[in-house]
Amino acid sequence: MNYQQLPQSGKTGDVSSKDGTKSWFYSDIVKDHFFHPRNFMHEDGDTSIYNAIGKVGSPACGDELRVWMKVDPKTECILDFRWQTFGCGSAIASTSMCSVMVTENDGMTLEEARAMKPQDIMERLGGLPARKFHCSVLCDKALRDAINDFYRRIGKPEKIIKEASRMIDPISKVTDHDIEEAVLEGAQTLETVQAKTKVGIGNPGVLPAVEELIRFYREKYFG
Ligand code: FES
Repeated sequence: MNYQQLPQSGKTGDVSSKDGTKSWFYSDIVKDHFFHPRNFMHEDGDTSIYNAIGKVGSPACGDELRVWMKVDPKTECILDFRWQTFGCGSAIASTSMCSVMVTENDGMTLEEARAMKPQDIMERLGGLPARKFHCSVLCDKALRDAINDFYRRIGKPEKIIKEASRMIDPISKVTDHDIEEAVLEGAQTLETVQAKTKVGIGNPGVLPAVEELIRFYREKYFG
């Protein structure tokens, strides 16, 4: 796997469509973290000093993120947090900001880190284009995976929180995670989620549960 090359400074972070009618604007904070990523794990970094590893892939775009955490076993504070990603500029900026947030002021406890939401990272970044929101969720999920890994390594399985997927529509084979990804990609209504997933087509009995999930994920990610 070739991980993301660090960006070259001097390039603009804004993107415009070819006809110039639509632009994605990135805040100065996003650009700063994209051009100068904090806590990046370089190829020759010593990964043996970390006691928790997290890894996550995005079903939305196929990109991947790995994180390494050093946790104080006594206080459960995050002393160091490093990362590598094969992802876009928004993933780089979000993960860079996440790494700052979990380690600043002597480090968050694992409980505080679990309470952090993707919106908190977005706020510190000054926002992201809506279509790039799923990129900021990547670091949140990798962080949670690393926290579980820490508890696994120290023999506390009761502290592991697993997000198992639930089959919502056995006919179209759509799970709650598929609906979550659709919402993160910008589908906010039953019609647009159905267009992406085919959920409930041929199985209308599941639609109330689908609508409930759409409301849940909209509230979770977009407030
Ligand atoms: S992480 Fe894949 S598009 Fe942003």
